[in-house]
Amino acid sequence: MHGPTTLLLLFLASQAEAFRICAFNAHRLTLAKVTREQVKDTLVQILARCDIMVLQEVVDASNKTISFLLEELRSKFYNSRCYGFLNSPQLGRSTYKEKYVYIYRSDKTQLLNFYQYEDEDDLFAREPFVAQFTLPSKILPSVALVPLHTTPKDVENELNALHTVFLDVARRWQSKDIILLGDFNADCASLAKKRLNTLLLRTEVGFSWAIADGEDTTVRASTNCTYDRIVLHGVTCQGLMRTASAFNFPQSFQLSEEEALTISDHYPVEVELDKATHCVQPPSLAFLLLPVSVLLPLLTLQCSLVA
Ligand SMILES: *[C@@H]1O[C@H](CO)[C@@H](O)[C@H](O)[C@H]1NC(C)=O
Ligand SMILES: *[C@@H]1O[C@H](CO)[C@@H](O)[C@H](O)[C@H]1NC(C)=O
Repeated sequence: MHGPTTLLLLFLASQAEAFRICAFNAHRLTLAKVTREQVKDTLVQILARCDIMVLQEVVDASNKTISFLLEELRSKFYNSRCYGFLNSPQLGRSTYKEKYVYIYRSDKTQLLNFYQYEDEDDLFAREPFVAQFTLPSKILPSVALVPLHTTPKDVENELNALHTVFLDVARRWQSKDIILLGDFNADCASLAKKRLNTLLLRTEVGFSWAIADGEDTTVRASTNCTYDRIVLHGVTCQGLMRTASAFNFPQSFQLSEEEALTISDHYPVEVELDKATHCVQPPSLAFLLLPVSVLLPLLTLQCSLVA
């Protein structure tokens, strides 16, 4: 089936699609790792699911690791998608450093703002690198993302300090719609259940822990821990949420545990926000009557090759 009807259907389908935000501890992501064929293929498939992906444990001073992944994504989706990225400085207290990296669909969302949280009292091993993105929603035009990869030794203090970061973001951008996400190590030996419920992000009202306690975010069959989390703040943002879950990539891609562990020991966690386009007028029927030659140029993507 070709012609205007197909294009209209595609247009309508893309309107109905949810907007997916993901966080993934990609376990010591280096250039040597991503250039391995199977790692590359699986990572690209994981990245392709997300409109915004926040990668953690990117270990790369040069930016080559992410450039390589972006090249792969751009060539796989040539002419149908655009990708951009944003990376934090290298963060860490010792010689071991890692970065937070956002990889996002620049044909669906724009980066509005970002900053590195200033960790004056050295509360975090890897202080959040905060970014604000547009959403394709009339009722919530933008959302701020606050990633954190805690150090397992200090989970409780870091997660309480994350509440302070939340307040800083809310004040700075005058926004209540904020998503805190990442490998919080908020379970098992790193944080007892009793302590979990005393965290400010649990006792203060307004936070919704989208990845529920008990959901396994770890690859190993021998572990069952909810380390990776997505926490939503803001009634508008919470109202848009459709689904939240860990993505069991070994099962979806039929990988053995051993194969999966070459990618990561964590699952990505994902939240789907409704595009909430009910306020938008449906395209007029005149759209159907336009010849394909007129429609095609309108639908061709213009990616600006920034970053
Ligand atoms: C890596 O990217 C960051 C920000 O995107 C930039 O400031 C930095 O200069 C880049 N580093 C290298 C070695 O290209
Ligand atoms: C992990 O433990 C929870 C209970 O805490 C259980 O509901 C869940 O089914 C377990 N998941 C796996 C994969 O074993």
